[in-house]
Amino acid sequence: MKNIAIAIDGPAASGKSRVARRVAEDLGYVFVNSGAMYRAFAWQAVQAGIDVTDESQVLTLLADTKFECGECEGVGTVLVNGVDPGEALTEDAVNSTVSAIATYPEVRERLVAAQRAYLDHCNVVMEGRDIGTVVFADTPYKFYIDASPEVRAQRRKAQGIVDSIADRDRQDSTRKASPLVAAEGAEVVDSSELDLEQVVSRVLGKLREQGLVSE
Ligand code: CDP
Repeated sequence: MKNIAIAIDGPAASGKSRVARRVAEDLGYVFVNSGAMYRAFAWQAVQAGIDVTDESQVLTLLADTKFECGECEGVGTVLVNGVDPGEALTEDAVNSTVSAIATYPEVRERLVAAQRAYLDHCNVVMEGRDIGTVVFADTPYKFYIDASPEVRAQRRKAQGIVDSIADRDRQDSTRKASPLVAAEGAEVVDSSELDLEQVVSRVLGKLREQGLVSE
């Protein structure tokens, strides 16, 4: 039987990561944060000191970079040239370069291939920006988790993270390659007034309706 993909997309700090993780735990699927792969390459670019607005520098670095995407205890992992960037994935320098690096189609192609490869081995709940529109466009299980810009900015602040989410949202939504948009047929959940449990139960409720989850 073919493995199953549940796609969860949405803007920064909409809560999609925590929701995806919980749904994966509930179903015994692997949770994959596709943003971590873009962040890993952005981290590599910061280490290499390249100008991420210069396409030729980005593509040269891409050619020299090996990604190894795997899984540990139900959670996706990523190594870049054999190194796990760990906590560095959420550092300021990565937050401010990741959306620029994610605009290059060649970068996206490499990472989308790595994302799709998960289905060769396991069922996944994958979250990101283009999972329902591009990576697993064929899956019937698609969600778009949103929240107002004010609520999202507040959530990031509460995490103590300096993150220009408005800038990233603008870049992610206006780029040519795979812009952030709710996939056709995606169940849209506005989490502004909902807590984690409520969003998770909305997602599981929809999956139950679709016959993926039993009562
Ligand atoms: O955690 P947060 O939602 O803020 O971001 P993330 O999922 O870690 O993604 C970081 C950045 O990677 C996004 O702002 C996008 O620029 C890019 N990204 C993407 O282009 N496509 C994806 N499927 C996932 C992330």
